[in-house]
Amino acid sequence: MMEGDNPLANAIRASFTRPSWAFLLLIFTGIAIFSIHITRNTIFQLGPISTQAGLERPGGPPSCSGLFEAPPPRKVVKSISEFGGVGDGRTSNTAAFRRAMEYMEKFRGTGGAQLNVPKGRWLTGSFNLTSDFTLFLEDGAVILGSQDPEEWPIIEPLPSYGRGRERLGGRHISLIHGNSLTNVVITGHNGTIDGQGKMWWDLWWNKTLECTRGHLVELINSHNILISNLTFRNSPFWTVHPVYSSNVVIKDMTILAPLQAPNTDGIDPDSSTDVCIEDCYIESGDDLVAVKSGWDHYGIRMARPSVNITIRRVSGTTPTCSGIGIGSEMSGGIRNVLVENLYVRDSAAGVRIKTDKGRGGYITNITIRNIMMERVKVPIRFSRGADDHPDEKWDSKALPKVKGISISNVISVDSRKAPLLQGIDGAPFEDICMKNVSISGLSPSVKWNCEFVSGFSDGVSPVPCFELQKNGSSSWCAYS
Ligand SMILES: *[C@@H]1O[C@H](CO)[C@@H](O)[C@H](O)[C@H]1NC(C)=O
Ligand SMILES: *[C@@H]1O[C@H](CO)[C@@H](O)[C@H](O)[C@H]1NC(C)=O
Ligand SMILES: *[C@@H]1O[C@H](CO)[C@@H](O)[C@H](O)[C@H]1NC(C)=O
Ligand SMILES: *[C@@H]1O[C@H](CO)[C@@H](O)[C@H](O)[C@H]1NC(C)=O
Ligand SMILES: *[C@@H]1O[C@H](CO)[C@@H](O)[C@H](O)[C@H]1NC(C)=O
Ligand SMILES: *[C@@H]1O[C@H](CO)[C@@H](O)[C@H](O)[C@H]1NC(C)=O
Ligand SMILES: *[C@@H]1O[C@H](CO)[C@@H](O)[C@H](O)[C@H]1NC(C)=O
Ligand SMILES: *[C@@H]1O[C@H](CO)[C@@H](O)[C@H](O)[C@H]1NC(C)=O
Repeated sequence: MMEGDNPLANAIRASFTRPSWAFLLLIFTGIAIFSIHITRNTIFQLGPISTQAGLERPGGPPSCSGLFEAPPPRKVVKSISEFGGVGDGRTSNTAAFRRAMEYMEKFRGTGGAQLNVPKGRWLTGSFNLTSDFTLFLEDGAVILGSQDPEEWPIIEPLPSYGRGRERLGGRHISLIHGNSLTNVVITGHNGTIDGQGKMWWDLWWNKTLECTRGHLVELINSHNILISNLTFRNSPFWTVHPVYSSNVVIKDMTILAPLQAPNTDGIDPDSSTDVCIEDCYIESGDDLVAVKSGWDHYGIRMARPSVNITIRRVSGTTPTCSGIGIGSEMSGGIRNVLVENLYVRDSAAGVRIKTDKGRGGYITNITIRNIMMERVKVPIRFSRGADDHPDEKWDSKALPKVKGISISNVISVDSRKAPLLQGIDGAPFEDICMKNVSISGLSPSVKWNCEFVSGFSDGVSPVPCFELQKNGSSSWCAYS
């Protein structure tokens, strides 16, 4: 996934020349105006939201949080201490959490229940949530993931992946897990769930990992979910993974992992519909947000797309990966994605679409607008993958269809490379539309690099590749 240094990159770096003062002044004015703009839109605003009245603030910035239908107050509220929990950071609370969840389960469909986790450090293995349930982490509450792999038992692979993502066979369950749930809230006063993933990253690095690593939070086949106002840290693998789910709101979250921690994606909506990701700060060793929908023939067979995904006011950094990734697992199809008011700094890529031969599926109707990037190496990148298939049964004739990607109002400063747009031979990416895109910091000799793509552009600098210079007004472009 990481690119090694190559002679071309070195030549580009060597030929980097300082822009003139007039040009710098122009850019900084641009940034100043844009920062005021994003401040007004309050990337980090955590304003008062009444759970009762719903999450949308009338007169506030645009929000998709209304996708979550707020439940009435839970009938029963208990603390983990009441189930024998000890928050000393050493005692295992696996049994306490499992006991608590068994108790909470009784109120499923009969008023619901809330489990409070008070200030303290609560070490635990994996546990399953139930429906009509709220997990609430009080100020100073920290849930710590067990360091014993057996406390993250093996579960079946997802049908749209056919195997664990990293290893054949089953995969470790997530620390906090849910299957076939409705009306679940995971929230609190900025308490922390810390996966203590270092042990897992070491197993990955030293090649002794036997089964695919677990997520911090995974919800399978679930509906009406809110995850908000918490800090998630050090996930072993992708941090938040809603899969085959709908009406999922992830809002006002901080997600952190060391910048070199492998595959610690922030949020990966996968084969899910009506997902809202808003007002999050993410820094990690992989994509901040990656939209997915299954892997090659397994994903094609399951045919569960990701549809109606909004990603708004997300900011952060990932030195080896991208701000927003679409794919590379996209075999069930991905459509109707809106990404706006994104701020990405010090990252390998800003916006990246990834696919490959064998994936099948589609990526269509993707709108990406109002993007600010600083020191991002490749601000816009489309790529065909690196021979990453689940097994030898993949079909080389299953070509993905990528059509209708609109990217507008982008400012990228201190960029290293011009957009790199590589479609697939025999399956060119079509209707790529770029409007008002300014990529600065490049040496004048740096050119766009396009292959098997076609589309339109307007107000784009530096001058895009000829493949995007198709003239005439496209109704598709106009509509976005
Ligand atoms: C976040 O916390 C604030 C302060 O407690 C609260 O008003 C708001 O409703 C919470 N936001 C979400 C999305 O849960
Ligand atoms: C949690 O759910 C999974 C299936 O989704 C199951 O395999 C596992 O045994 C459950 N764990 C507990 C503690 O109930
Ligand atoms: C929540 O905690 C994280 C980590 O300590 C911090 O970076 C973030 O600013 C906090 N968020 C709020 C709203 O206080
Ligand atoms: C790999 O890392 C794990 C976890 O830190 C450690 O227990 C194990 O001894 C390491 N194995 C090797 C071969 O370094
Ligand atoms: C996606 O949103 C569109 C427009 O709001 C709506 O018509 C459609 O039913 C939604 N699709 C799904 C699968 O939720
Ligand atoms: C395209 O996606 C947008 C969301 O970005 C949605 O509002 C619109 O309805 C979609 N268009 C079609 C034709 O589905
Ligand atoms: C171009 O994009 C920048 C950055 O988002 C924005 O401030 C500006 O208003 C846009 N210009 C037009 C003409 O839309
Ligand atoms: C598009 O039009 C411009 C001027 O209107 C012209 O310079 C350019 O060559 C045209 N590009 C193509 C690909 O026809």
